[in-house]
Amino acid sequence: MASIKNNANNTSVVIKPEDRLIEAGEKIGIPFGCTEGNCGTCLVRIVKGQAGLNKYSDKEEAFGLEEDERLTCQMRVLHGDVLVEV
Ligand code: FES
Repeated sequence: MASIKNNANNTSVVIKPEDRLIEAGEKIGIPFGCTEGNCGTCLVRIVKGQAGLNKYSDKEEAFGLEEDERLTCQMRVLHGDVLVEV
């Protein structure tokens, strides 16, 4: 099992590694737009747990993210607990 937690409102949700994070992210207050890696609305900063995430998607690579940033709609938590800042 893994989890994702929003540092801003201290809410978290348990997730499975195969889950896309859109539904889980909405539950903890991460906003979404396109859900396809194009708009950047779901951009978060990873505070803890980066090692448990999937590799950057092609969309994220094209977006030019900082090292600690991810697009939640492109991200999966493979293991562990991840803390994000919106
Ligand atoms: S919701 Fe648009 S990039 Fe993730």
